[in-house]
Amino acid sequence: MTATKGLEGIVAAKSSISSIIDGVLTYQGINIDELAEKASFEEVVYLLWHGKLPNQSELDELIAQLGEYASVPAEVIAGLRLYPKNANSMAALRTAVSSLALYDAEANDMSSEANYRKAVKLQAQLPTIVAAFARIREGKDPVAPKKGVGIAHNFLYMLTGEEPAPVAIQAMDKALVLHADHELNASTFSSRVTVATLSDIYSGVTSAIGTLKGPLHGGANEAVMIMLDEIGSLENVEPYIQNKLDNKVKIMGFGHRVYKNGDPRAKHLMQMSRQLGELKGDMTLYEMSIKIEALVTGQKGLKPNVDFYSASCYTMLGIPRDLFTPIFAISRVSGWTAHILEQYEDNRLIRPRAEYVGPVDQHYVPLSQRG
Ligand code: ACO
Repeated sequence: MTATKGLEGIVAAKSSISSIIDGVLTYQGINIDELAEKASFEEVVYLLWHGKLPNQSELDELIAQLGEYASVPAEVIAGLRLYPKNANSMAALRTAVSSLALYDAEANDMSSEANYRKAVKLQAQLPTIVAAFARIREGKDPVAPKKGVGIAHNFLYMLTGEEPAPVAIQAMDKALVLHADHELNASTFSSRVTVATLSDIYSGVTSAIGTLKGPLHGGANEAVMIMLDEIGSLENVEPYIQNKLDNKVKIMGFGHRVYKNGDPRAKHLMQMSRQLGELKGDMTLYEMSIKIEALVTGQKGLKPNVDFYSASCYTMLGIPRDLFTPIFAISRVSGWTAHILEQYEDNRLIRPRAEYVGPVDQHYVPLSQRG
């Protein structure tokens, strides 16, 4: 038995939700480029869960259901009030999502109908939790979700308490579309491993949030913004990046396990970053980002991934940087739950083997004889 470090190249599941073939990402066979330009996030959520785009009445019904479930149990909001004000936002989200199960009477109902309903609840409630956490830590009251509007709109509204500008809604919606699913990425894999034991969907999504949190995965978008803040100016880009490259320090937001010729999502976020800069009348973050890209790609051949330009986009939308990864989760919960439902449909325990590299032929030594 020989281990493959990081399971690189290992095909660990059959899935019909999204594919990455020759560098092209599709959701249910539809190219992400087309969806980024034309689809709303709710259409994508339906597509991932049902394998087809919704017709008008199906879409209306989904939006109504999401609205119906968007309020979070009062106990979960009360829990958020008890978290330390400086709690890590992904740790707070992970804890709150785990606690949702305690207040859902069908948390352990494993019927397909109940599991689908719980997927809708999770999709509806994650934005409410993230917005409520962000407000509570600033000493503000949470804003109740609106009915009849999309998730991007509702999230920005609950975060700020104000009606968001159409351009902000559009940008957020596109970002949600681009982050919704990504084949067997680390967090999706961990959700499938968890539910393959026939554990419940809340446990699966809690595992996934914990996995997304790391800086090698979803946490990279916040790390990119920390880097941009540290660099601080266009002139400082070159010395800062050169120093990192010379010292073989990883540049966050670059590289990918699967894409070697570039992440197809990055160009959409780059375009959005430029447009948001133009609208704001301040191109600094965009220009810093393209300069970093030129240096890193030029010297290392590494291309930006989905996290790189999302950092400048979210900042230009006025979002604090530690909410970037929770926003990733607000979108990716659609993919996690689609994969969880798919796993339940044709389940087998996921239990690989390890290549043992420890000592052999050892014996028990009595405590008194150990050095
Ligand atoms: N900056 C500098 N060098 C890099 C980077 C980077 N961002 N990414 C990879 N490399 C180098 C590695 O140092 C390594 O070089 P070496 O062979 O000389 O040691 C080589 O490229 C291969 O890198 P690995 O880390 O082995 O590649 P792996 O497939 O395991 O990792 C990963 C992929 C984690 C995305 C990696 O590229 C990385 O750490 N990037 C920065 C973090 C990041 O942006 N993560 C978000 C990914 S997208 C997402 O999850 C949503």
